[in-house]
Amino acid sequence: MKPQVLLVEDEPILRLTLGNDLAEEGYEVARAPDGAEGLRLIQEQAFDAALLDLKLPKADGLTLLQRFKAANPQGLAIMMTAYGTIQSAIAAMKAGATDYLLKPFPPEDLLTLLRGLLVQRGPREADGEASGRVRRFGDLIYVSDAMARACDLLATVARSDATVLIQGETGTGKELAARAIHQASERRNHPLITVACAAIPETLLEAELFGHEKGAFTGAIRDRKGRFELAHHGSLFLDEVADLGAAVQAKLLRALQEKEFERVGGTQTIKVDVRVISATRKRLEDEVLAGRLREDLFYRLKVIPVTLPPLRERKEDILPLAEHFLVKYARPLGKEIRGFTPEACRQLLAYHWPGNVRELEAGVQRAVTLTKNPMLTVEDISFEGVSTPSDQASVSTQPLTDAIRETERRYLQEVLRSVGGQKQRAAEILGISRKTLWKKLKQLGLEYKRAHPAERRG
Ligand SMILES: Nc1ncnc2c1ncn2[C@@H]1O[C@H](COP(=O)(O)OP(=O)(O)OP(=O)(O)O)[C@@H](O)[C@H]1O
Ligand SMILES: [Mg+2]
Repeated sequence: MKPQVLLVEDEPILRLTLGNDLAEEGYEVARAPDGAEGLRLIQEQAFDAALLDLKLPKADGLTLLQRFKAANPQGLAIMMTAYGTIQSAIAAMKAGATDYLLKPFPPEDLLTLLRGLLVQRGPREADGEASGRVRRFGDLIYVSDAMARACDLLATVARSDATVLIQGETGTGKELAARAIHQASERRNHPLITVACAAIPETLLEAELFGHEKGAFTGAIRDRKGRFELAHHGSLFLDEVADLGAAVQAKLLRALQEKEFERVGGTQTIKVDVRVISATRKRLEDEVLAGRLREDLFYRLKVIPVTLPPLRERKEDILPLAEHFLVKYARPLGKEIRGFTPEACRQLLAYHWPGNVRELEAGVQRAVTLTKNPMLTVEDISFEGVSTPSDQASVSTQPLTDAIRETERRYLQEVLRSVGGQKQRAAEILGISRKTLWKKLKQLGLEYKRAHPAERRG
């Protein structure tokens, strides 16, 4: 079957010439002169690739891109943009575009790019040979079968309204997964509202979730909608859902069961149509056993559980992700870095990644920013705890106590960095209490500062 390509371009001559070039190259081309027609075509048929102008009449290129990716998660999207709109091109890359071309470009550039991308992506899912190739679901990138299984499940539940619980260690992509579900669902044109449950003090959480009436408490000077109401017709993402107080748990249970609640201080019952997606790093079973989570709420949240595996259990994903982050961070800096040296690849594969994909992303970003090499070397990626042979040599000349202390210090630093300095998270990963962690940091003379927020996305 010929690859299906969608071309949306308002400039008639360009639409004609590019369309003909693509058809001559052997693609089946569907052409649209504006955003509205583009959207109609996206709804009507599946595409392998889309070539989208960023500035379009009747629905812009970014909107089109989102709809295209939602309808064709494996589809390649190339944005066409003129000088001066480079910011929107970057926004488009963030929204899932595969690549962009700066206008005017020779048609040959487009054909080469598209040919390369299609080869890289491999045969379509439906052709049944996708294994070993880089795949995407929303912004999640993977090649491993373990992630493929998780993403298949995510894609299936996206089509329903079922309550989903996403489990996984820190940095495994739970938030991306939640967004991907929303984007692939019928609710995509309505809001996705996120609540970072652990970050909101318990006393405020109830009002945050359910809203309050004027005068409900000191400072409530007017009526205010809660996140449940704001998410009406859309999705509500409850992040760190294990960290809810008892009162909120009871109210949440009813909201999930009956789809109704009252605002704090209110008497009127409010009905909402919301799909709830929640995420947790903790094992909720343990929270139930410890009496911190109501069992009935647990079953309500966990109608469909999806677990994202840690990176060390899907080592096949390490290098494709590293390459992806390399391109992502090198491009805006205008750096041409060809990849990782074989030795660097070995180091990346040998490391155990306690901070998972977030740690990998931060490490590659740092390496790309600092390097002066045409390829990233072992030295470039000697970030966090990725140990190098020279590190090991220096350890072996120390007395045992110093070596243990040094190893402990390095491991603590590594874990703390991987979670952006959040002690609570670090303690969880290390399997010790916050208090013990605090004592150890003091003993080792480590006053750890939080990473700059810009270093941590998500
Ligand atoms: N499969 C993936 N492909 C591309 N990027 C990924 C993938 N998984 C995670 N990331 C990136 O890693 C970072 C962490 O992801 P995310 O915030 O979704 O993790 P999380 O599971 O919610 O972590 P935490 O429990 O610490 O909140 C983000 O920058 C995200 O873009
Ligand atoms: Mg998260």
